[in-house]
Amino acid sequence: MDALLEALRAAAEPTRLRLLTVCAHGELTVTELTQILGQSQPRISRHLKLLCEAGLLQRHREGTSALFRVADHGTSAGLARILVDLVPVEDATLARDLERLEAVKVARAESAQAYFRANAAQWDRIRSLHVPEAEVERALLDLLGGRAFEDMLDIGTGTGRMLELFGGRIRHGVGIDLNREMLAVARANLERCQLRNCQVRLGDMYHLPFPPKSFDAVTVHQVLHFAEEPAAAIGEAARVLKPEGALALVDFLPHDLEYLREEHAHRRLGFSPDEVARWCHSAGLAVEDERVLKGNPLSVGVWRARPVGGAA
Ligand SMILES: C[S@@+](CC[C@H](N)C(=O)[O-])C[C@H]1O[C@@H](n2cnc3c(N)ncnc32)[C@H](O)[C@@H]1O
Repeated sequence: MDALLEALRAAAEPTRLRLLTVCAHGELTVTELTQILGQSQPRISRHLKLLCEAGLLQRHREGTSALFRVADHGTSAGLARILVDLVPVEDATLARDLERLEAVKVARAESAQAYFRANAAQWDRIRSLHVPEAEVERALLDLLGGRAFEDMLDIGTGTGRMLELFGGRIRHGVGIDLNREMLAVARANLERCQLRNCQVRLGDMYHLPFPPKSFDAVTVHQVLHFAEEPAAAIGEAARVLKPEGALALVDFLPHDLEYLREEHAHRRLGFSPDEVARWCHSAGLAVEDERVLKGNPLSVGVWRARPVGGAA
């Protein structure tokens, strides 16, 4: 009863209820929450602290900043969900908050896209700054079992490298990306490799333009650290996976290279295996295999997950 009372008390205050509502629509930093609610940083920080202590919000530390979201596990997660569902979003103050939230999201997306536009042609060079690509690709080929696939989807395909890698062992491959310049580079690469069985198209990883259960293999290679909502992206990938299909995720393990956020539009400074496993679980997938490729300063994680109950 004490924990419930504490959580109820924490929520029973206008600013904190607004924070809870806004954080239910996205993961946000203190600075962003300050902009959205129009209140001072110390005040917002104090309210956030109380909400976190009560288990209604979760704080995810990344380098020098922290991201706040509504709790999805722990004793107060259920209460947080109920409160968020009960909140009258037509309320004028909340409606304004949510409008400002949308503006923050648009600004973030624009800065990421501007980065990609500026770097489309050089992307292949930029990623070679991290763990040797050949090593990651070997692990991926190994993890996807060396078997032939019918249909493959590469989410956030960029220059189409994953399609190049798997193109010879699939019947049909498609890569989707939000960025037209990236797609232009990918098309040129596929053409160069004469991969007629592969194509790329404009698409958003949060709204994949495919019916459920369409693919035997889905790859998400170095994309999640740009994602506003990685869990939602994994959920959408799981939706289009056939019951016996496999999802391969590749991304950085947690690191503190803050400049990647500022200079390269990274939204997340890596992911822990626990975090990945939890998101997969929520999407109805089970992580079957994972590899850690130690690098300096960046290490890379490679994960294979399959729909729970699907054929092994
Ligand atoms: C770092 S690149 C990785 C490209 C490729 N997977 C690779 O490893 O070479 C990240 C890519 O994700 C794409 N991207 C970011 N947000 C996206 C979204 N919401 N939907 C689809 N693609 C997205 C970017 O445009 C970019 O091409």
